[in-house]
Amino acid sequence: RDKLPNYNTVEDAVRLIRESKRILILTGAGISVSCGIPDFRSRNGLYASLKLQGEYDLDDPQQMFDINYFRENPAVFYSFASRIYPSNFVPSPCHRFIKLVENRNQLLRNYTQNIDTIETLAGVTRVVQCHGSFATASCLLCRRQVPGSDIEDDILAQKVPLCSVCNAPQLAPLTGKRKSRKKSAKKAKGGWDSEDEDESDGPAYPPGIMKPDITFFGEKLTDNFDHSLAADRSEVDLLLVIGTSLKVSPVADILCHLPHSVPQILINKTPVRHINPDIILLGNSDDIIAHLCNRLGWELPPPKNEAA
Ligand code: OAD
Ligand code: ZN
Repeated sequence: RDKLPNYNTVEDAVRLIRESKRILILTGAGISVSCGIPDFRSRNGLYASLKLQGEYDLDDPQQMFDINYFRENPAVFYSFASRIYPSNFVPSPCHRFIKLVENRNQLLRNYTQNIDTIETLAGVTRVVQCHGSFATASCLLCRRQVPGSDIEDDILAQKVPLCSVCNAPQLAPLTGKRKSRKKSAKKAKGGWDSEDEDESDGPAYPPGIMKPDITFFGEKLTDNFDHSLAADRSEVDLLLVIGTSLKVSPVADILCHLPHSVPQILINKTPVRHINPDIILLGNSDDIIAHLCNRLGWELPPPKNEAA
């Protein structure tokens, strides 16, 4: 779309942020990089490091978050999941800015693609975790949902967590060790050893694998995403996009679902070439946020929400 007239400077960004009452903040991995969590698609991001290490036998690093690959070979994901499991992170100035906007009653919603739950740690409540989180986990077979803490020990021990209801007690104990893909490809049934597998029926791996409720490629987003967006699109008066390459749908499509009259500001380290925001502020998002707060005369709240 054509850019709106009269918006393009930092001063315009400051004015828009000051005056807007229902700001939609769309965030991605870039806002958690300063917390020590790599993003996905940067040169030193997670996908590049998965490729370089070659540790996991993946044709494409995105397979690590692919539901079909996971069903076939859950041990690969679980040999890696502890690396992205939320631990002692401290919210970045960007997270604290979102909380500040909420404290000022100017936050319509924070749509985050991040699964690190640092928004919640910062005290943000008007947040939609578009790609889910480790807060809960579900059985792939019976869909039973449990608190994420139930599978935490397995994640940290790099074991595949099993559903206690579906999983038959007579099955051989599992080590959670990764099986060779060549082997599993030969079996064409899944990643588990099939020494005792009956050729004629049943999957090659035990029934009822638990999966954290983070959204994998090939999975639908939650209804909460659709419902929130349906309500928010007619309310929003400013869009702030921070720290995302906007490469993944449907979150990336949020931009085209908003009225054209809503000004858009992009804050990102690198340009996002397929969108056309009114104001582009390129650089480290923490620095840009600090600068904007300075110009706004706003003070960031403490890193961790005191009420939390
Ligand atoms: P990406 O890694 O695709 O993009 C992160 C963006 O943040 C890049 O454009 C970086 O330039 C920018 N960035 C990095 N560090 C920054 C900093 N300090 N300040 C400002 N910008 C910075 O991550 P996402 O867009 O979040 O999904 O990726 C979207 C989804 O793809 C993720 O939720 C994940 C992934 O596959 C699933 O796993 C389902
Ligand atoms: Zn089950």
